[in-house]
Amino acid sequence: MSRRKIVAGNWKMNLDLTEAAEWLAEVDAGLQSDNCDVLVFPSFILIGDLMDMYEGEQILFGAQNCSNKESGAFTGEVSAAQLASVGVEYVIIGHSERRDHFGETNQMLKEKIQRALKNELTPIFCCGEPFEMRNENKQQEFVKQQLEESLLGFSAAAMAEIIIAYEPVWAIGTGLNATPEQAQEMHAFMRSQIAAKYSEDLAQQIRILYGGSCKPDNAKELFSCADVDGGLIGGSSLMAKDFLAIINKIG
Ligand code: 13P
Repeated sequence: MSRRKIVAGNWKMNLDLTEAAEWLAEVDAGLQSDNCDVLVFPSFILIGDLMDMYEGEQILFGAQNCSNKESGAFTGEVSAAQLASVGVEYVIIGHSERRDHFGETNQMLKEKIQRALKNELTPIFCCGEPFEMRNENKQQEFVKQQLEESLLGFSAAAMAEIIIAYEPVWAIGTGLNATPEQAQEMHAFMRSQIAAKYSEDLAQQIRILYGGSCKPDNAKELFSCADVDGGLIGGSSLMAKDFLAIINKIG
């Protein structure tokens, strides 16, 4: 089964409106072919303006987070329904920075996925082990638990709507990417967990992205792994030139 690849830029808390508008114009002008889905995840405050100013079709917009609550007295939060109401189509759920700095648990992430799906947003569910787990060769155990507690309780129909991103915590923002072998091994492992719970067909259908120090000079070898369906890019998504270079690594 051939899965369409994705290159997604997670800007985190970077770029102001002027910088973001410049980025959008430059990336739009630089896209050479329709070789993959191109997604960008700006801060909440910028998404509406950027979507309004964008006249192209290829760049798709998402949010970096959503609340696990439907609505109500949750100052500072943004709901999945609010995102959907402005035309957002994707939402990152469970990024390790949310887990580590904001105490997001596997159970909360499951609720966020529920909210996202209910509002017809496509969740990009992030998982990945910290350095200590990799060091003790317990990365599969760790990721298995993340999948089981947040994801594998959903119906097959719901699972089919979800994108997964494997982001080993030790590789995020460190310049130390997973090797293609390490990425491939984990992606194949995750696919095997999905196959065991649902079906081989569904496991083959789900797109699994790699994230963690992915950049123009390592993207090609990471993206050419059989089970790696593209990348979730942090630092290297901030410069239009680097992001375009990564997009061009998709065969
Ligand atoms: P870096 O590409 O900066 O390592 O970040 C990856 C990431 O966290 C994407 O969500």
